[in-house]
Amino acid sequence: MDLERLLADRLAPAFAAVAGGPVDPAVRRSQHADFQSDAALGLARRLGRPPREIAAEVREHAALADLCAAVEVSGPGFLNLTVAGHALGGLVSAMAADPRLGVPPVAEPETVVVDYSGPNVAKEMHVGHLRSTVIGDAAARTLEWLGHRVLRANHLGDWGTPFGMLIEHLLDLGEAGAAQELSMGDLDGFYKAARAKFDDDEAFRGRSRQRVVALQGGDPATLRLWRLLVTQSEGYFLTVYDLLDVTLSGDDFRGESSYHDQLAPTVEELDRLGLLRRSDGADCVFPPGSVGRDGEPLPLIVRKSDGGYGYPATDLAALRHRTGALGATRLLYVVGLPQRRHFEMVFAVAVQAGWLTAPARAEHVGFGSILGPDGRMLRSRAGGSVKLAGLLTEAVERATALARERNPELGESEAAEVGCAVGVGAIKYADLSGDRHKDYVLDWERMLSLDGNTAPYLQYAYSRVRSIFRRAGAAARPDAEVSLAEPAERALAVELVGFASVVEEVAGGLEFHRLTAYLHRLAVAFSAFYERCPVLRAEEPVRESRLVLCDLTGRVLRQGLDLLGIRTPERL
Ligand code: ARG
Repeated sequence: MDLERLLADRLAPAFAAVAGGPVDPAVRRSQHADFQSDAALGLARRLGRPPREIAAEVREHAALADLCAAVEVSGPGFLNLTVAGHALGGLVSAMAADPRLGVPPVAEPETVVVDYSGPNVAKEMHVGHLRSTVIGDAAARTLEWLGHRVLRANHLGDWGTPFGMLIEHLLDLGEAGAAQELSMGDLDGFYKAARAKFDDDEAFRGRSRQRVVALQGGDPATLRLWRLLVTQSEGYFLTVYDLLDVTLSGDDFRGESSYHDQLAPTVEELDRLGLLRRSDGADCVFPPGSVGRDGEPLPLIVRKSDGGYGYPATDLAALRHRTGALGATRLLYVVGLPQRRHFEMVFAVAVQAGWLTAPARAEHVGFGSILGPDGRMLRSRAGGSVKLAGLLTEAVERATALARERNPELGESEAAEVGCAVGVGAIKYADLSGDRHKDYVLDWERMLSLDGNTAPYLQYAYSRVRSIFRRAGAAARPDAEVSLAEPAERALAVELVGFASVVEEVAGGLEFHRLTAYLHRLAVAFSAFYERCPVLRAEEPVRESRLVLCDLTGRVLRQGLDLLGIRTPERL
């Protein structure tokens, strides 16, 4: 149980008694004491009484003697709560004895589908796919650790009209040549060449159109060629996932093509429900609440005028499958913010059709763009989109050089391992440590810096903890009593016991910058503690108590970073 909740549980009955009904005690961390409640301010108007008077009365009623060393009314009517050292020590001890660090598995596990990454076959993954992959993987890891049943769904763009021209281009190159080009990851070159021919060459255009018809008709020879394209691209994406150290595997590909035979039944069901309207020859649904700039209703096109199904129909079929056949109650779509309208409409139609009913719900976990140092969309030097594999390799090279420079006695393989952990960690952390709705600027210097809110700073803090135990030559004694005499010890303890509530909050809103901010605060508190409080040179029983604090800090940093998909090398 974490402190905020514990204090809130004690304050709630007192507030209820004073207010004559339930009140959220609104306990928060504070600069002025350990915690603060400002609920009296909100109540004052309702009760028509001065807030300080309310706070004082709550103070009288609240059973806090065993938990708090001081409870004070301050300012306009805050309650400042200072936690008693022995209570804090007890919480730290309990957390240290728990392999799950005070974070119990959820009481009611859900089936959660995390739709993430979703690159497109025969196209380079762009930085938007990078963000989706990083954020989605953090979501999958976090929810899984909490005990949910997580289904990863990589909604690969592997179907649709471009495949006509892609297959024809493949035939022009010859299968072997095409496979070679694709497996090298030269996806953009392949796609652009096909596109150029399609635009300039009448005959090629004709062949491509026929090829689409053959593909949709299930022509076996065409399907074989299509498979070839998909397999080559999947292989390339898997190498990127491997570099990126994410939990997505080959088993998680759920390409658009896999919903192919559910498209017609999905649209038929919409028809039976009376939701379809014809508009410009296409079958559309007009979900309530979706209106354009000038107030006209906006359609979601589920069957195009040529009878084909597109991206929206596929998402409807996928959603219906996820809540239906898979029994998922939480659907996450980790996709860039430009697709916000698309998902709003898909969800609204799904609600109308009865495919998305409580307790099932869908969330668009949207995010902004990655910008270059010039503040514009990140581009390669040639002006094209940045190759993800290149970006990752650059991060790892920079970090490896850094590791060698700092630590010349690292062996080759250890330097390479540290370089991977730090380079990839830095990219992920830069992505996760800002509000995901905002754009962020890719800044190598900053993200690889050992100071500030960065992965290397946290990894460094972790390695310091490990070095203490290497020097101690022994692990912490889990049953050692924790005493918190020094302010720096207390401050560290207060951070430590806040882990559970942060993880819980992040599992809800999927705002990982709250977890990174927490881990950073923890590392800063640890660093202050370590500067002021000798550990190995302290007398017993203080030494044992401090070792417990060090050990717990290391475990929380490791677990927290693991939820984000970031590794923690033993030495840096
Ligand atoms: N392939 C899509 C793109 O590159 C992303 C897919 C997102 N997932 C989904 N269910 N629509 O934009």
